[in-house]
Amino acid sequence: MDHRPQWGTRAGFIMAAVGSAIGLGNIWRFPAVAYENGGGAFFIPYLFALLTAGIPLLIMEFSIGHKYRGSAPLSFARMGKGKEWLGWWQVAISFVISTYYAVIVAWAVSYAVFSVNLGWGKNTENFLMKEYLDRIDLSGGVIGQFGGFVPGVLIPLAIVWIISLGILFAGVKKGIETANKIFIPLLGVLFLIIVIYSVTLDGAGKGLEAFFTPDWSQITNGKVWVAAYGQIFFSLSIAFAIMITYSSYLPKKSDITNNAFITGFGNSSFELLAGIGIFSALGFMAAQQGVPVKEVVSSGVGLAFVVFPQIINEFPAFNALFGFLFFGSLVLAGLTSLISISETYVAAIQDKFNISRRKAVLFGGGLAALCSLVFATKGGLFFLDAADYFINNFGVALAGLIEVIVIAWFARELRTLQNYANSVSDIQLGGWWRISLSIVTPLVLGYMMFDNIKTNLTSAYGDMPVEFLLKWGWSVALGVIVVGFLLSFSKWKNASTYSLYQDKEVSS
Ligand code: ALA
Repeated sequence: MDHRPQWGTRAGFIMAAVGSAIGLGNIWRFPAVAYENGGGAFFIPYLFALLTAGIPLLIMEFSIGHKYRGSAPLSFARMGKGKEWLGWWQVAISFVISTYYAVIVAWAVSYAVFSVNLGWGKNTENFLMKEYLDRIDLSGGVIGQFGGFVPGVLIPLAIVWIISLGILFAGVKKGIETANKIFIPLLGVLFLIIVIYSVTLDGAGKGLEAFFTPDWSQITNGKVWVAAYGQIFFSLSIAFAIMITYSSYLPKKSDITNNAFITGFGNSSFELLAGIGIFSALGFMAAQQGVPVKEVVSSGVGLAFVVFPQIINEFPAFNALFGFLFFGSLVLAGLTSLISISETYVAAIQDKFNISRRKAVLFGGGLAALCSLVFATKGGLFFLDAADYFINNFGVALAGLIEVIVIAWFARELRTLQNYANSVSDIQLGGWWRISLSIVTPLVLGYMMFDNIKTNLTSAYGDMPVEFLLKWGWSVALGVIVVGFLLSFSKWKNASTYSLYQDKEVSS
């Protein structure tokens, strides 16, 4: 008897999948990536990547989870011999991501509090680096030093883990589904208020012009295509083991393809909305300072925690309220993604070691929370930067590439999965789906990987010391592969869990 938990409603599953997809990647990554890679012209590679890789892979992962009804390692193990490691590799990637993702959500919690009295002051960069993060001073310290804990980060970090693990503790339906059903509509409303306000500000038009004006010369640049694929993978939570895990909780009668299209387009719509809101606000700030928009654009940590507080300082009215709404949105978007990232290892541990959800949350979540302490130190920002860069480029993207190659070319599962998805879905998948996954995606992603490895072998990322990158970048990316293999060698504690599906297949 299969006791796998189930989502209560279809809307609940969609909210959870969309909640996983919409995260920090949409709000702080997408707008700057689009701008730096050709502005309006970026939408062509972006849409190409969405339609030939993002949505097809999402359909594939939904089909795998639904058909094999297991966490990523269990689903791959049930697919056939020698594939379980792929699931563990993805779970290990998610484990690493959760350790620093939680820290960024914790910063957002602090900044939501600071926004009440604009506590970041006038010099927002100085505030972030010196006062809040208390980052080690590079004139005296070196990259790779921990330098002690930062209490201002530790406290919100503990809060973030308690909330996330508490929700996971409550289970799939009562915890994850309920949280997403509250957080996602709330996020939509909060973010819409910010965007509507931003587009009415002086200078917003100039910001939008900078964002949407196409630079067609960029379209033939390989890096732009690489950026589009990278963005789609991270943003859609593909090759993170998440979508396989979440779809394993779907009831038998569920439409796979339709759900994937809703999730994919829902995520991209939010991304576009974020781009419009952020660039309107950047246009406003540029106008206030009398400088061109390109001088105020930044990405990642800089955009959310340095530039945005500056913009909020300059808002003509309701500064504190909009600050709270912005950082509150970041917290909601981050939490729903963090929950999904952590659920991958909770589900995998439960399946493999046949223990209760509570024990799996305590063990997996507890270990992740402990590891995240590294990023709550004075040197934490450097560790975070290296881990994030390497795990995305040589973790997520590489796992996505290997996943399609194994399934399309080694396991030859694509037609089986296509028939499976078609048997439960309204929209019928045609040859385009198989061609996208077996030819287009491996070619483009393969090129992307080759180019990226070459670049990183010839120049050190972010001009960081090579020894540091070896220890905290390369070894993390390679370590997750090794961990993936090692875990796949250990025995399933409950042999029937593993064989349940296969027995059924044989007997039916
Ligand atoms: N998909 C999540 C994000 O965009 C991980 O942040």
